[in-house]
Amino acid sequence: MERIILDTDTAGDDNIALLMALKSSKARLEAVTINCGNINFDQQVENALYTIEFAGMSGKVPVYPGARHPLLRDWRTVENIHGKDGMGNSFFPKAKQRPEPKHAVDAIIELVNSNPGELTFVEIAPMTNIALALRKDPSIAKKFKSFYFMGGTNQYLGNVTPAAEFNFWVDPDAAKIVLHSGLKPTMVGWEICMRHGLFFGEELEKVRDIGTKEAEFFYAVNRQVRTFMRRERGIDAISCPDSITMAIVLDRKVATSTKNRFVEVDNESEISRGACYVDEYGVLGKKPNVKVVYEASEKRFKDMLYRLFREGRI
Ligand code: RIB
Ligand code: CA
Repeated sequence: MERIILDTDTAGDDNIALLMALKSSKARLEAVTINCGNINFDQQVENALYTIEFAGMSGKVPVYPGARHPLLRDWRTVENIHGKDGMGNSFFPKAKQRPEPKHAVDAIIELVNSNPGELTFVEIAPMTNIALALRKDPSIAKKFKSFYFMGGTNQYLGNVTPAAEFNFWVDPDAAKIVLHSGLKPTMVGWEICMRHGLFFGEELEKVRDIGTKEAEFFYAVNRQVRTFMRRERGIDAISCPDSITMAIVLDRKVATSTKNRFVEVDNESEISRGACYVDEYGVLGKKPNVKVVYEASEKRFKDMLYRLFREGRI
């Protein structure tokens, strides 16, 4: 049983990753923590609460609001990608469940210290919360069972600037803290999503025709992403960076190739803010600090999602 803490900036595909964890027989979602990122922070909290209620788990998984702002940098939200509500402009009703009064950073520290070696941390947002937790209690770096993040790129174009992927760009200082904390994270970069985690138009319509509430939810929350990808990237598709990351957590065989590499982030410059450097040839002479996913099985990933759409469970 994978006992998971999920840190998310709940918009679009984040909600599908959350739904996967909620509906997996192999996972127990211990907590959801909210990090600044995609859209308005309070709406992100509501989206997490709504998705938990949608999954029939209302009141069973605590949601802890965390950092409303990156450590140092200003950033911009991306309602143009995910819709004003982050749910493809579905404007779902408010869930009954309310967020916890405890701050996400304190919740992470308490949960990890009371379950040493037991918890898997899944990071699908900018890393402000976990960076603050590591600064407040550095000992937690050695107390995770495992740690996965969706972020950065491995020799690949950025998605928010030419240099950087969004999660690293929003808070490069937090990413720096995490990369140098002694954690041994597994990295799922943006390139994995672009190579193995896209649903193109025709396939999206097939998903919609499945007609279950899960299939409709997937289609709805990604609706605006499809519009954005068509208009700005010239492809009729939606991207699933967070859900392919969750698929790797729930079924290690989804990641078909991983390599230990030294990974660094640029938290100094402007033009290449958040750029991620994977030292492929070890030229920097630094010890590898990250297990980088190089290849993933699109089939295993999508089979998992289709099970969710068809059977409402994984
Ligand atoms: O770059 C993609 C990542 O940034 C995804 O996690 C998306 O939700 C945004 O947080
Ligand atoms: Ca995210």
